[in-house]
Amino acid sequence: MQAHHHHTHAPVSRHEHGHHVLQVEDLSVGFRMYEEDVPYFRAKQRETEVIDRLNISVHVGEIVAVVGASGSGKTLVADAVLGLFEPNATVHGRIWFDGELQDADSLQKLRGHGISLVPQSVNSLDPLMKVGRQVEGFAHPDESHAVRRRRREKLFARYGLSEAVAGMYPFELSGGMARRVLVCCALMDDPRVIVADEPTPGLDLELAVRALGDLRTFADEGGGVLLITHDIELALQVADRVAVFENGTVVEETAVANFASPDLLEHPFSRALWHALPEHDFQTGGGSPC
Ligand SMILES: Nc1ncnc2c1ncn2[C@@H]1O[C@H](COP(=O)(O)OP(=O)(O)O)[C@@H](O)[C@H]1O
Ligand SMILES: [Mg+2]
Repeated sequence: MQAHHHHTHAPVSRHEHGHHVLQVEDLSVGFRMYEEDVPYFRAKQRETEVIDRLNISVHVGEIVAVVGASGSGKTLVADAVLGLFEPNATVHGRIWFDGELQDADSLQKLRGHGISLVPQSVNSLDPLMKVGRQVEGFAHPDESHAVRRRRREKLFARYGLSEAVAGMYPFELSGGMARRVLVCCALMDDPRVIVADEPTPGLDLELAVRALGDLRTFADEGGGVLLITHDIELALQVADRVAVFENGTVVEETAVANFASPDLLEHPFSRALWHALPEHDFQTGGGSPC
């Protein structure tokens, strides 16, 4: 295993352009909040740190899975990469896209034009709009509607969605179809990076494997994927590297192959995750994972 930039490498990952298609360095996200249990006129504002100097990188052709407990701040990482910041958030750190250092404005411009999100909830589809139109999007300055429609048709065909689906409303779709529609939305603008935030809950195993297979195809064709999940078993099936996330930071970024044995994992929390995998009989070795 080759180590560089503080992480171990998947042997298959390629290096092009800026070497990393996405790189997050020393990302911290905190929130200014009023103290609880104090009458409001006496409450002081305090700062809570949820993400603490997090480092993560994605190479061209690679899926990097971010695994960690629910509520630990994984969606905040996705939001930061997409330039989505809550008004009470303070964000520090550096984010590079294709070798270029970004700021809040440029990240916002990249959203849907370089970096696309597969959101955590299928409820993010508009319930009142037919899904074909939703995937095609609204008027684009540089592309006619006919062109976007043709592109949407191609994506639907590729992801096994018939043209009849385009005329349906979200409530008429199965969970798996809705998930695929969200993947098509993300692919519509030809991104270099897809951030997929928990794309599998609610899917049966077959559909979950297929959804992740779609992300695998995207990566194999030269994209980069940040796959956020608490399902480490599925992550190990599809990812090249795993970033183990605990207490607001990545405690270990390691090749999937190192999950073959706890001896190859460096951090106690990574070993705890290994021991908690069902095929390891739920032994708890290095402490509880959650
Ligand atoms: N606008 C906000 N103000 C204060 N705290 C927030 C805000 N948004 C998120 N948080 C906190 O950040 C934590 C992490 O949330 P999230 O990123 O959704 O976790 P995960 O995706 O890992 O389940 C939550 O526990 C929540 O309390
Ligand atoms: Mg989340």
